[in-house]
Amino acid sequence: MPGQVLAVANQKGGVGKTTTALNLGASLAGFRKRVLVMDLDPHACASIHLAFYPEQISYSALDIFKSYPDFAYTYNDCVYKDRQGLFFDFVPSNIHLSDLDAELRDVSGKGLILKKWMDGICGDYDVIIIDCPPQMGIILVNSLVAADLVIIPTQTDFLALHGFKLIFDTMRLLNKALERPIKYRVLATMYDRRASACRRVLNTLQKKMGPERLFETIINTDTKFREASARGKVIRDYAPRSRGALEYFKLAREIINI
Ligand SMILES: Nc1ncnc2c1ncn2[C@@H]1O[C@H](COP(=O)(O)OP(=O)(O)O)[C@@H](O)[C@H]1O
Ligand SMILES: [Mg+2]
Repeated sequence: MPGQVLAVANQKGGVGKTTTALNLGASLAGFRKRVLVMDLDPHACASIHLAFYPEQISYSALDIFKSYPDFAYTYNDCVYKDRQGLFFDFVPSNIHLSDLDAELRDVSGKGLILKKWMDGICGDYDVIIIDCPPQMGIILVNSLVAADLVIIPTQTDFLALHGFKLIFDTMRLLNKALERPIKYRVLATMYDRRASACRRVLNTLQKKMGPERLFETIINTDTKFREASARGKVIRDYAPRSRGALEYFKLAREIINI
């Protein structure tokens, strides 16, 4: 499906959102998909990972929201294309994205800004992936509303299972105002099959979600992710034969076949 929007979201931090957005983006590009990745987390972890340092770049996702409704220059300036070593086009983040809740408070239709911006660009891409912020606010709402599918990475431990209830509450709230319910799938991450606690959590997820709501692909714990990130690379670049690289390719194939 051209212009498919995938929002990677979970209101818990450290569950693998950024890792999934970047590595899934690189894997989908490996299937010859035209991919745009957007970093909408004010913490800018994805941007820093890819060496888009907020203090050094002129344009970011912030300009998209600030230039609403005409978006003028943003299609060219905010999207960084053909950067060497990148497998996809990229929109970097800005710390001031977190100020938007106050700035846009009285703007009507403020939840649809991102969706409208994407209408102008979705023909250029097969897939647009959003790395969402963990905080509930206007950016997360814009991302969930724009998404064709929300990917919810969930660490396979009990605390994470407890934490991810928040994102379901948020989606339930938004569904009341939307024409069609938000589609989502949970992705089990940082799995360690030797740990019985991990196996139990995966079992619970499988029972609660069923095959329609849980990706068959499971992302195991792999130290290569941290090493890749420290070198500013995605895993397909840093360790193409690693288990983690193969698992994100498997996830990409699963998404293509949905
Ligand atoms: N499958 C994995 N195995 C091992 N480490 C991982 C895995 N996925 C992510 N990590 C590491 O865990 C940390 C948190 O992941 P990250 O993607 O930044 O989470 P989030 O964006 O949800 O806060 C990072 O240091 C990342 O390198
Ligand atoms: Mg992150």
